Order: sequence, then structure tokens, then C-alpha cells
Amino acid sequence: MKIDIITIFPRLFEPFLSESVLGKAVSRNLVAISVTDLRRFAEDKHNTTDDTPYGGGGGMVMLPAPVVKAVESLKGAGSPRVILTTPQGKLFNQKLAREFADEEQLIIICGRYRGVDERVRQLVVTDCISIGDYVLGGGEVPAMVITEAVVRLIPGVVGNEDCVRADSFASGLLEYPNYTRPEEFMGLSVPKVLLSGNHAEVERWRKRESLLRTRALRPDLFAQVELTKEDRKLLET
Ligand code: ADE
Repeated sequence: MKIDIITIFPRLFEPFLSESVLGKAVSRNLVAISVTDLRRFAEDKHNTTDDTPYGGGGGMVMLPAPVVKAVESLKGAGSPRVILTTPQGKLFNQKLAREFADEEQLIIICGRYRGVDERVRQLVVTDCISIGDYVLGGGEVPAMVITEAVVRLIPGVVGNEDCVRADSFASGLLEYPNYTRPEEFMGLSVPKVLLSGNHAEVERWRKRESLLRTRALRPDLFAQVELTKEDRKLLET
């Protein structure tokens, strides 16, 4: 898989792409990620990439020509998903991350200022994506969020596949509570069942905790879960 990120702040991505899970995935060639400086595609000697909005109002709008030229220069042989990060987009979630992880190439445009000229959406963007109902200074952090969520789904990137399966949202539920040593910490004990060695009991406890947590904290997610007979029994106990 190839991920191309278009931004006016390419250096923001340097530590992000060289450390931890992502850095390893790149060095093991499980994914190729490149960051393109939008200013390379500016059309004047000042490397301008934005201008004032028609119709007035404050702020600046990203010029269409540099963005469209950058996208066209990055398109490989297939037809990549071209993602624009914007608060006016579809809300990003694990389902979308899985969908993006199946693509050959993603091109992510980091929006800035008041956004990009609408014709960029019309001409090259396939998906407008928001990472949440709040406004950030730009699309760089959202691009990192999307990149990290997608890359960890590529087979081989996360060493332990069980972890990816147990992740919150992987099954539509929030993940159960986790504990490690010591058995008692500041008067709080690890639940006995986790020390029992009874694998089936541990699984039942984890499933019940996931269900309870999701119902309490994310009723919106819980409403979408198709409860099995077993799940219903767990919730009654
Ligand atoms: N740019 C600014 N805020 C954003 C958000 N919440 N999601 C995606 N892109 C953004």
C-alpha cells in the first residue's frame, strides 16, 4: 500500500513517520508513505498556496491549482482514494479505516485555513473526512490519525493479530479493562477471574465488561450491536 500526504507543513510528519509502529512498518516495506510539500506546486515566485475568499469574509482559502496539480502528480496506475481532511466531512471510524486499508493507494490532502477551493472537491476528491466534531488548525493531525488507524490494519504491521481483533470497535464494542502486574496496586486488586487460568471464564468476563462499558459510555454504538442470546445472558448476570 502507498499513502501520499499533501501538506504545507511536511516537517510535522518526520517524527510521526519514523517512530514506533509506523516507523517499523515503513522500514519493513509493509507500507510506503511519502509527504509532499504543496508549495512545490505553487504557481508564483512567492510559493503562494492560498488567497482571500470570493464574497468576502475573513481568512484564506487554499488555491485549487497547486492542490489539483499535486494530486495529479502523485496518482499511480490505479484509481486512488483521494481524501480531504475537513470538519465538513464524513466522520472517520474503524469501518472506514478498514475500507481504506484495502486500497492500493491513498492520497490525503491536509486542508488549512478556511478550507480548500470547492472545485478541488469536485475535481479530484473522493472522500471528505472529519475526525470529530471540533475544529483544528489544519488537516495534518487528522491525516496522522487516518494514517495510523489504516496502517495498523495492514497484515504484519501489529505483531500480535489478537490485539487488533480485540481492539475497541473491531467488534463494534469498546474494549474490556486490562490489567498487568502488580496484583494489588494502591488498594485496588486485579479481578480474580483474570488470575484463574480459566480461559473460557476470562473470555466471558471480558465480553461482559465490553458490553457493559459500551452500553454505559457509548449508547449510540450499543444500539447498533446485534446481541446474541449469550450476550443477553451475560448482561443479566
Ligand atoms: N480540519 C480541521 N478540523 C478538522 C477535523 N475535525 N477533522 C478533519 N479535518 C479537520
